[in-house]
Amino acid sequence: MANPKSDSPDRMQEIISLCKRRGYIFPSSEIYGGLNAVWDYGPLGVEFKNNVKRAWWDAMTRMRDDIVGLDASILMARRVWQASGHESAFTDPLVDCTNCKNRFRADQVEEMSGDPNVCPSCGMRGTLTAPRQFNLMFKTYMGPVEEEAGLVYLRPETAQGIYVNFQNVQTSMRKRIPFGIAQIGKAFRNEISPGNFIYRMREFEQMELQFFIPPEDEERWYQYWRTQRWQWYLGLGMKPESLQWHEHDKDELAHYARAAVDIYYHFPFGWKEMEGVHDRTDFDLRRHAEFSGKDLTYFDDLNNRRYVPFIIETSGGPDRISLAFLCDAYDEEEVNGEKRVVLRLHKKLAPVKAAVMPLSKKEELVALAHQVHDEIRPVGLTQYDETGGNIGKRYRRQDEIGTPYCITVDFDSLEDKQVTIRERDSMTQRRVPIAELRGLLAAELA
Ligand code: GAP
Repeated sequence: MANPKSDSPDRMQEIISLCKRRGYIFPSSEIYGGLNAVWDYGPLGVEFKNNVKRAWWDAMTRMRDDIVGLDASILMARRVWQASGHESAFTDPLVDCTNCKNRFRADQVEEMSGDPNVCPSCGMRGTLTAPRQFNLMFKTYMGPVEEEAGLVYLRPETAQGIYVNFQNVQTSMRKRIPFGIAQIGKAFRNEISPGNFIYRMREFEQMELQFFIPPEDEERWYQYWRTQRWQWYLGLGMKPESLQWHEHDKDELAHYARAAVDIYYHFPFGWKEMEGVHDRTDFDLRRHAEFSGKDLTYFDDLNNRRYVPFIIETSGGPDRISLAFLCDAYDEEEVNGEKRVVLRLHKKLAPVKAAVMPLSKKEELVALAHQVHDEIRPVGLTQYDETGGNIGKRYRRQDEIGTPYCITVDFDSLEDKQVTIRERDSMTQRRVPIAELRGLLAAELA
C-alpha cells in the first residue's frame, strides 16, 4: 500500500533534507552558492550509489556468460558524434520569456503553466519567443588553442563508446552473437530545464547495455530485455505499484529507434521516465561503418553468412534510479507517539549493513563493542556508534539511513557473550551468541 503522503510535494523536500542531513547528497560547490543541476554524493551516498551500480553490474555481467564489460573514455573523436547524429540532432527546442528572461524547453511549457502561450515563471501571456534549436552537448577543446580543429564534446551518452569498440571486444573476447557489452560511466547534457534534485542533472551517470543480435531476432530480444529490466527493480524490492510502462508513439521515437519503451517510476513529482529499452536496429553500426570507412559487419561462421548486427539497448541512469529507490524506501510511521522515519532499502542497497552500539560508555562495554565491531567488518560497511544519547535515538538515526541491523552490547553481554540484534523494518529484537554473529549476518545479507 503506497504511503498516503508519498506523492505530496513535501515528500521530495523531506527526502532532499534527509540526504543532506545524513551525508547522502550535497549541492555541488555549495560554499560558493552551488552549481545548478550538479550534485555531490557524500559518504553514505557514494556507498549507496555504488551498491546500485554493483547490483546492475552483477546482474548484467557476473551472472551471465553472454555479456562483457567496458569502460570507454568520456572524450571521443568528433566524428563519433557526427556519425551518431548528435552533432546535428541532439537538440531541444528552447524558448525565452522576453519579460522575466527565463528559458524553457518549448515542449514543456504547456505542462508547466497549463497553456503553451503563458510563461511558466512570470505568468505573462504572449511573452515567449519562437522556439530555436539548442544542442545539449558540452563542448571543450583539446590542445592549447581554442580552435575548431580541437573541438571535442563531453559524451552525452555512454552508448557510442560501446559501438566504436564493437569489433575490438568481439574479436578479443571471441564472442559469438548474440552477446552484449555493458558499461557504467559519466555523461553530460546541458539540459535546458534540469531539476527535481538528482532526477535531471547536467553531469550524471548512465548504466547501458548494448546487446548485439541477428536481424531476424529483433522482436524476441526486445521483449526479453523489457522483462529482464522490470524484474531487476522488483528483485531489489521496488513496489510493483510504483512502476509503469510507457510505450513510445511513432512521433516520440528517437531517430535511431524502431521501437522504444520506458519504465516509469511514480516519483513525488509524478510518473516519470527512469529507464528506457530501445530497439536500435542496425542504425548505429551502419552509421559508424559509413563514417569511419571500416567494415563493421559480423561473420556468422555457423551459418556462413555476414551481416550488420542489430542492437537492443537498455539505458538507465544510476542517479535517477537511486532517487527512485530512495523515494520507494522512504517511510514515516508513528511509534510510541513519536514519528519514526525509516529508509526501507533492500539490504543489498543499504549503505551501512550493521551498526554496533554499546549500551553505555562504560569501559568494559566499549571494549567489547569494539571487538564485536571488528568481528563483523567483513560482512560489509559497518558503523560503530556510542554517541548521541539513549539507544532509542541511535536506533532512529540508523533507521533514517536505512541500516538493516543494529547490534547492542549490554551488561549481560559481558557474562553470557551474547548481543541483541534489532531489525530495522520489524523493530524485533533477538539475542545471539557473539561467536555466531558474523556467520548469521553474512547469511542474512547474502
Ligand atoms: N543511449 C540512450 C540514451 O541515452 P536517454 O533516454 O536519453 O537514452 C537514458 O537516457 C537514461 O539516462 C534515462 O532513462 C535516465 O535514467 C538517464 N538520464 C538521461 N538524462 C539524464 C539527466 N539529465 N540526469 C540524470 N539522468 C539522466
